[in-house]
Amino acid sequence: MAAEASEASKASTAGSGSADHARAVGSHADLFADGIAVRDGFLSSLRIRELIECAQLRRARGDFGAARVGADRRLQRREEIRGDSTCWLVEPLFAAERALLRRLEELRLDLNREGFLGLFDLELHYAWYPPGAGYARHLDQLQGRTHRKVSIVLYLNEAWEPDAGGKLRLFGADDDYRDVEPVGGRLVYFLTAGREHAVLPTQCDRLSVSGWFRSRG
Ligand code: OGA
Ligand code: MN
Repeated sequence: MAAEASEASKASTAGSGSADHARAVGSHADLFADGIAVRDGFLSSLRIRELIECAQLRRARGDFGAARVGADRRLQRREEIRGDSTCWLVEPLFAAERALLRRLEELRLDLNREGFLGLFDLELHYAWYPPGAGYARHLDQLQGRTHRKVSIVLYLNEAWEPDAGGKLRLFGADDDYRDVEPVGGRLVYFLTAGREHAVLPTQCDRLSVSGWFRSRG
């Protein structure tokens, strides 16, 4: 497990702290060099709390549904592959959700400026993993569909305990990998094409907002 521990520490020091984030604004060199970027304190703890409350309200009124795998008419529930429930961020939105979309719009414009990615919109959902759930190793681009260009995940876990499972595991070439703990306020974004990743089974409730910046093509 030594490799895992050092990967985890690498991940948790990358871009840590809001001061680092401030310095990093306008610079996504890590995304373009490694295909992966991690930013802590992407949103304040107050904003994170508001989003948690939005998600709780939506869950209470039944907006969440069991996530399914596959595409279109072949969608199916396969809990051994994917055990989360999701809820799309669609109108009518709460104020905190609108504020998040504004922040992500800044990120989209930044990425287009720096990387000429041609990102033109964002699809976004909450994902809630109950204890025991995970998401097996997968790609975010469905076969033959390449319009998802940048995957993003913002974690909404206020008091995440290390070693509670639930890490995001990002695989590299040669089956090496990098693990990221789903700490509240942390944003992970990565180039979607070819990047296999998994959510390791979590021991605690694990909440995030995740989605994709898309291009037209
Ligand atoms: C996904 C996904 C990663 C995470 O929703 O497709 O891979 O850390 N999420 O929640
Ligand atoms: Mn994914």
